[in-house]
Amino acid sequence: MQPVQATYPMTRFRRLRRTAALRALTQENALTADDLIWPVFLCDGVNQRQPVVSMPGVERLSLDLIVEAAAMACDLGIPAICLFPYTDPRVKTPGCEEAWNPENLTNRAIRAIKAQVPDIAVMTDVALDPYNAHGHDGLVVDGIILNDETVEALVRMALAQAEAGADILGPSDMMDGRIGAMRSALEAAGYKDIAILSYAAKYASAFYGPFRDAVGASGALKGDKKTYQMNPANRDEALRLVARDLAEGADMVMVKPGMPYLDICARVKDSFGAPTFAYQVSGEYAMIRAAAQNGWIDGDKAMVESLMAFKRAGCDGILTYFAPDMARLLRKG
Ligand code: PBG
Repeated sequence: MQPVQATYPMTRFRRLRRTAALRALTQENALTADDLIWPVFLCDGVNQRQPVVSMPGVERLSLDLIVEAAAMACDLGIPAICLFPYTDPRVKTPGCEEAWNPENLTNRAIRAIKAQVPDIAVMTDVALDPYNAHGHDGLVVDGIILNDETVEALVRMALAQAEAGADILGPSDMMDGRIGAMRSALEAAGYKDIAILSYAAKYASAFYGPFRDAVGASGALKGDKKTYQMNPANRDEALRLVARDLAEGADMVMVKPGMPYLDICARVKDSFGAPTFAYQVSGEYAMIRAAAQNGWIDGDKAMVESLMAFKRAGCDGILTYFAPDMARLLRKG
């Protein structure tokens, strides 16, 4: 598109910025509660709320309170909630068996939410790190993260989540071939309508730090995730990964982290036109909250501006810890 306009003073851009009404009329993008997916952290017990110190305002919640939180989100018009379990170090094993236990925390939460708040979509995390004695997303043998064996384990995990009633599976592990393997297994088991939102372009990022505290993986993790997560310097590889995952049967794709990777979001949406999501990750959330707590920025305004940036980049939605705050602010108008 070649914009055509007269030169100054025939064209004055400030004419359309003069009043709130004119600005609203010419606003190009909008953010609504429909755009939000809320990631939440689960913990064992009853009536438990455990603040996550590095994520001010975020708490791990026990099952009973997660159901209440889901009901609150649903009332606010948030269409989906994404579950992450804090796992007791005692159930972490090298084989990660807890990941496909039908009675693990995530699977119990899926059932409880679907029973009591059926209208909210429940998304899961498909990766081994919460259950892994090594803290990695895949099985580790002699310091190597095994690909194909991990994919088999992830398929078991995905099937257990499907069986529990998940609406959207979110493979966040970055193993090769996992989307195709999961899709075939879901079809074969009769789970034809379960959506996969692939973490297709997930970078090896420093911005995941607070999340690893929240799920209790910081202590376990040795080394980094660079042999499976992407190099932050790469752009074309993101497009090849998205193409691959769509070809293997992903319904939606994700770019993660969000704010430092808006160029990737825009290219993915422009190139494929598939439902595209960004994950505004824990470190991005923590930065905004911490600066706001110090009085260095206006927290609400920074939240809105950061989330609007994803819409401008072409994203269909955003996974964000701000989801309830944002939805509340939108409701107030
Ligand atoms: C791991 C996983 C991570 C996040 C979601 N799933 C962390 C990691 O890859 O180490 C990060 C989310 C966040 O930082 O908010 N499967």
